[in-house]
Parts: sequence; C-alpha cells; structure tokens
Amino acid sequence: MKSYMIQGAKIIATGSAIPSLKVSNEQMSSFVETSDEWIFTRTGIKERRLLTESGKSITDLAVEASIKAINSIAMDPKKIDLIILATSSPNDLFGSASKIQNEIGAINAVAFDLTAACSGFVVGIITASQFIFTGTYKNVLVIGADALSKWVDWSDRSTCILFGDAAGAVIVQSCNSVSNSILNFHLSTDGNYADYLSIAYKENLEPHPTLNLCQGSFKYISMNGKEVYKFAVSQVPLSILKCLNDINLSVKDVDWLLLHQANERILTAVAEKLSISSHKVISNLSKYGNTSAASIPLALNEAVQSNQVSRNDIVVIAGFGAGLTWGTVVIRW
Ligand code: COA
Repeated sequence: MKSYMIQGAKIIATGSAIPSLKVSNEQMSSFVETSDEWIFTRTGIKERRLLTESGKSITDLAVEASIKAINSIAMDPKKIDLIILATSSPNDLFGSASKIQNEIGAINAVAFDLTAACSGFVVGIITASQFIFTGTYKNVLVIGADALSKWVDWSDRSTCILFGDAAGAVIVQSCNSVSNSILNFHLSTDGNYADYLSIAYKENLEPHPTLNLCQGSFKYISMNGKEVYKFAVSQVPLSILKCLNDINLSVKDVDWLLLHQANERILTAVAEKLSISSHKVISNLSKYGNTSAASIPLALNEAVQSNQVSRNDIVVIAGFGAGLTWGTVVIRW
C-alpha cells in the first residue's frame, strides 16, 4: 500500500441490522428440492433473514445499522463528512446513499454508492481510509447492505439457498498517523470471469418502433458455484499473504480472520491454506447465509459486541465475489 498519509484512520464504531423474518433450511425444502442436510454440509448455512416487509428496502436496514453505530459512540451525525454505501441491491439505480444521509441527519456528508458485490465493504473501508489519510475527511460512515433476496430466482435451488439480507456499518475516523490502525490493503479484479457471478441486464426483444432502441430489465442471479468456489480458495489466501508480507507481518501475527461469509467450506479451506487455527476464524453464516456486502460488517459488529475482538488485535478482513473482485485489509483493532 503506497499512501500519502497525513493522518491515520481507525474504526471507532460498528452497528448492524437484520430483517425479522428467519427462514430455516427446512422451510426452504418446502418450495425447492433440497434438505437441511445438503445445505448445511455444503455451505454451513442453517437459516437466513429475508426482507419481506412491504415497502422496506436495504435503505431501511442501512439506516438502522448506521444509527446503531452512531449512537454507540453518541456521535452527532452532522460530524459525518462522507457516507459510502457498498451495495449491489439499491432500491434506486441512481444510488441509495443520499437517502441514508437524509434519514440519519448527516446533513454535512457527501454520500455515494459503491458497487463491488461481496467485496464492496472491503473496497468501501479502503476508499474511506484514502480520504482520511490524505486529510480530506475526518469521519466516514461505511455501510455494507444487500438484499439479494430481491434478485434470487426462488425456484433455483443452487443459488436461492445461499443468500440472506442484512446491513452493517462502521465509522472510520481520522487519528494521529502514529495511531493508524488500517495497516495495509490489497485489491484485485479479474473481469475475464465476470460471468461466473452476475445479475445481468437483458434487453427486451421488441425495440421502440421509431427509435429502434431496446429497453430491458435485470435478470436473476446466475452463478457458476464450482468456479466461484475455486477462485475464492485459490486467490484469497494469496491476497492475504501479500497484504501481510508487505508490512512484515506473518500469519502467526493474525488474531482474527474475518472473511466474507459465503460458505463455511471456503472459510475453512482459506484458513487451512494459511495455517490459521479455526479458533481465529470469525463465522456467523450459519445464522445469516451470504449477505453479500453486509456479511463482513455484520460479523465484525457481532465479534466486537461479544468482546471476541479486543484492542490491538490484528484482524485480517478479506472480501471476494462477483466481478470477479477480491481484496484484503489488515486492521489493528
Ligand atoms: N439441494 C440439493 N441438491 C442440490 C442443491 C440444493 N440446494 N443445489 C444443487 N444441488 C445438486 C446439484 O443439482 C448436483 O446434482 P447432480 O450431481 O445430480 O447434478 C449436486 O447437488 C452437486 O451440485 P454442485 O453444484 O456440484 O455442488 P457443489 O458441491 O459445488 O456445491 C455450492 C454447490 C453452490 C454450495 C458450491 O459450489 C459453492 O458454495 N460455491 C461457491 C458459491 C459462493 O460462495 N458464491 C458467492 C460468492 S460471493
């Protein structure tokens, strides 16, 4: 990481929000041919939360998660300079971050959406830290929120069993550069494999009669599960190692490994490749499934609230997903 650091950055607050509706694997087997045994052994997922309330969207979850983070440190929302909403399922294609800005009363904040699928939160934290390192902003709210239930084909058992809805938020604040806690990052993209995981836009066949212009709509999530699995297990450990090596840390220095919560088998395989003990792997996907950009801040918030993560711990966070995109950020808590 080459950065022109005028000031350091640290995470000072976390919050999260989940929908109230819980759907178990058994319930899934009432509408697709599957079983609790198949889902749990292949993915580690037991249940997921789905946003089913009429009129509710990720904006509502994101607002709830943000307010919890803000209230946890009794911060005045007017002090927030920037809001980054990492999402692939906004309820407005022009972006949802500005609605969150309004609803939480962050009237002085610039707000924008960031789309990098399940890597979105990691990209969001890194983007926030760059604005802070350069002295541009002091307080940045980074939110990861997704409701992929809106984009899943509920008759496709190979994808619908994986995803859940949630939001997580953190506040990143500037500090003296000596106290900087965002120690390093590494980001990668390989668009050659974009088709492995996508929510593609498809044009209708009937063009406009005079303009010859086609309009369309987005399709359901499509995924090549096997290839996504192989990609994650091969690339994520390399990204983590590079990120640690660059700052002369080794896997032995890692206190917590927090990966995007996609599949328990991916978490286990990555930890094994890195020789990191399973006790250091943060996992909550049995309760929520893959919540896309929300999975890391949701798990982080739970780990912080339960005092699993303590001050000065080295937390390695890695996201991966559609794009294909992947990346790591190393944090001293
Ligand atoms: N219930 C029961 N059977 C299912 C099923 C389900 N929900 N989904 C698929 N199957 C069947 C398949 O039809 C296939 O049957 P067949 O052998 O008769 O053709 C069999 O189970 C094996 O399917 P396969 O796709 O080879 O399973 P897998 O071991 O690769 O596991 C995933 C599938 C999706 C769990 C796995 O590939 C995976 O987790 N990949 C990563 C996905 C991911 O994390 N995506 C998000 C990244 S951000």
